[in-house]
This record gives sequence, structure tokens and C-alpha cells, in this order.
Amino acid sequence: MQKLIVGNWKMNGLGAALDEAQAVAAGLGAAAARVGICPPATLVERMSRALAGTLVAVGGQDCRAEASGAYTGDVSAEMLADAGACLVILGHSERRAGFGETDALVAAKTEAALRAGLEPIVCVGETLAEREAGGALAIVTGQVRGSLPAALAGRPFAVAYEPVWAIGTGLTPTLEQIAEMHAAIRAELVATLGEAGARAPILYGGSVKPANAAEILSTAEVGGALVGGASLKASDFLGIIAGA
Ligand code: 13P
Repeated sequence: MQKLIVGNWKMNGLGAALDEAQAVAAGLGAAAARVGICPPATLVERMSRALAGTLVAVGGQDCRAEASGAYTGDVSAEMLADAGACLVILGHSERRAGFGETDALVAAKTEAALRAGLEPIVCVGETLAEREAGGALAIVTGQVRGSLPAALAGRPFAVAYEPVWAIGTGLTPTLEQIAEMHAAIRAELVATLGEAGARAPILYGGSVKPANAAEILSTAEVGGALVGGASLKASDFLGIIAGA
């Protein structure tokens, strides 16, 4: 199956950065992976227009569970879809840690994404302390159980395994650790969602670079990558996509 490679620009990118997104679209080969870029909310509409007709999908980085209302500063899944998004990242560790997002809230946001016709990418991952205490598998499979609503069955979605200690640090788990975790996530997905859980891609995220992308992407049960820092430059992101 085609790999899914998604760039998470986080809180980076002014209008001038659309040039990088267009360079990614221009540099994609015919047999490329499925590719997406999730810019800050302010750029979703402009990027959707700039990339219309290309193979690069545009996504949001978060959404509110409610469709509309008195929620100052928030953006709903419907608003992202209206701006041209087809994907949305949910439950990123930076939101779980910085904004107190629980599994239940992530599940509600995932249902909102489905309601709006967006493909959710639900993030899970353990902290270094949790890994060192031997609890990584239990923590992550628990997040999968709690963050993925039954409504996902029959709908396109992805899970992203992002060990918190590998994000932005240059550290990555060993390929054995990635394979072990992805197998555990797959087993949990099948147990909770049946056939739908057997098909959903499980992305790896955390310090993915052109130099390590090919080996990570060829690891068992790695269905793609969620890329932070290295997705901001078209040449680096294309180098990662080339590893798929
Ligand atoms: P880095 O690729 O910068 O480590 O970030 C990973 C990430 O958090 C993607 O969502």
C-alpha cells in the first residue's frame, strides 16, 4: 500500500512559506507516496488554493469538537473543511501536554473530524519517563483505546505513533522499538475496530529526516511518517518522501 507522508508545520509559516509547499507539489514523482501538509490554520485556505490540482493534500493541526459556537480562538472541523482541508492532526502530544487534552477529548475531536468529512490522524506516544519505567506499550495502547471512537470503522483515518522524547530532539527509537510499538498498536486497532483497524496506516513521527526515512518507512507496520521540522523545507521533505 502507498505510504502516507504528512508534514506538520506546527506554529511555523507565513504567506511566503507557500512557496515551499508548491515546491513539494512540483517535486513529487508519479509513484510518490500520498502526501499531505498541515500548515497553521491561517494558511489552510491559501495553501489549499495554491495546491489545488496537485497531489498534495492540506490539513489542519487540531480542531474543536463543536461545529460552531462561543469558543473564542478555536477552529472547528467544519471550518477546516470549508477552507479546503481534507486531513486533520488530532491529539498531538504538544496539545495533550500543553492544553490538557485527554483521550476522551481527542475521541470527541475525532468524531468531529468525521462529521466534517476530514481524515483524522490521531497521535499517540509515551514520554521518556514512561518508557524508562517500562510502561510505553501499556500507555500507548491505552491512548489508542481511549482516543479512537467506534465511528472510525469504515472511514479513512490514520494513527501516528510519536514518542514524545523523539519529537524535535534528533533522537529516534531503534527500528526494533518502532516495530514492537507499531505491532502493539495494530493489535489494539484490530481488537477495537475489527477489519477497519487492520487497514488504517500507522505513521511514525519524531525526528524523521531524509537520512533515516527509508529505513523507518521499511519497518514492519510503518505505514508512513508524520514529519515536523524536516517538513518545513521542500528539499528535506521531498528527501523523506523519496524514502517511501
Ligand atoms: P519533528 O519531526 O520535528 O521531530 O516533529 C515530529 C512531530 O511532532 C510531528 O507531528
